[in-house]
Amino acid sequence: MPKSVFNRGFRFLPHDALLTFEEIERLARLLVGQGVQKIRLTGGEPLLRRNIEKLVEKLAALPGVEVTMTTNGSRLAHMAKTLKAAGLQRVTVSLDALDEDLFQAMSGSDFSVKDVLAGIDAAAEAGLGPVNVNMVVKRGTNDHAILPMVEHFRNSGHVLRFIEFMDVGTANGWKLDEVLPSRDVINMINAENPVEPVNPKHFSEVAKRWQYKDGAGEIGVISSVTQAFCSRCTRLRLSPEGGLYTCLFAQEGYSLRDLLRNGVSDTELSNVIAGIWQQRTDRYSEIRTDDTAGLKKVEMYYIGG
Ligand SMILES: C[S@@+](CC[C@H](N)C(=O)[O-])C[C@H]1O[C@@H](n2cnc3c(N)ncnc32)[C@H](O)[C@@H]1O
Repeated sequence: MPKSVFNRGFRFLPHDALLTFEEIERLARLLVGQGVQKIRLTGGEPLLRRNIEKLVEKLAALPGVEVTMTTNGSRLAHMAKTLKAAGLQRVTVSLDALDEDLFQAMSGSDFSVKDVLAGIDAAAEAGLGPVNVNMVVKRGTNDHAILPMVEHFRNSGHVLRFIEFMDVGTANGWKLDEVLPSRDVINMINAENPVEPVNPKHFSEVAKRWQYKDGAGEIGVISSVTQAFCSRCTRLRLSPEGGLYTCLFAQEGYSLRDLLRNGVSDTELSNVIAGIWQQRTDRYSEIRTDDTAGLKKVEMYYIGG
């Protein structure tokens, strides 16, 4: 969230513009009824939402659903046990470098790498592991941080995952030549610490899994730019004020908030959701060019990654 925009003077949405936990739970229940098996809370920063553990509790109580979260980790050390007790199963933490200056420059955060590392360890201790650690790789910015990150997380039990820098939204000034292909990342790691591919666990897994040949654990790569996986994508995103987005690169969503608040029945709501899902034709990552990057799209800090 650019500091120039989201500064002290910024007026965030009024609370009643956001879905209540009960409204989110209702939508989640209908979605689970239609086959959703995994719910990920992301953001924005999910741990900044007051009483987020109450929402986790409601979602985790839905039958057969796994509840996970992606967080910047800044508040995780304090919250890991509470989240686990509420029913959260796993957590993904973002960390683009171990070097403090580089981390600050990439994330714009006012917390430190130490806070994030403490959050990762607390999450693992609380039973939220194996913790995924997401590193977005920008060529020329943090590619030199790949091997130090590998060294740090080998043998830790956490799964370090390298994400190709994506043109989500328009605010990040994306350029294709800043994308370091995952295959180069794997080659770089393999030269130091030999790795071999691991079979995927699920059809729609976005990360390709690799393991160190010496048994030091697993890593992953998410290659949404160089090896698009639109045809296997099964993700649907819900924004805080009730917009459904069928693609990370969507230009707009379908607002469900008014329907939710106008007394519509569960069956009608389910039919609307099913209609949106069945009609989706998104395949942005397969048709991406340098020109499409300039299209007005929903920002990453809004749609959640
Ligand atoms: C947008 S964040 C939201 C959740 C949370 N605030 C966090 O920092 O993890 C979700 C994920 O998207 C990743 N991400 C952000 N910008 C990205 C980009 N341009 N390309 C690829 N991944 C990106 C982040 O590193 C993070 O792992």
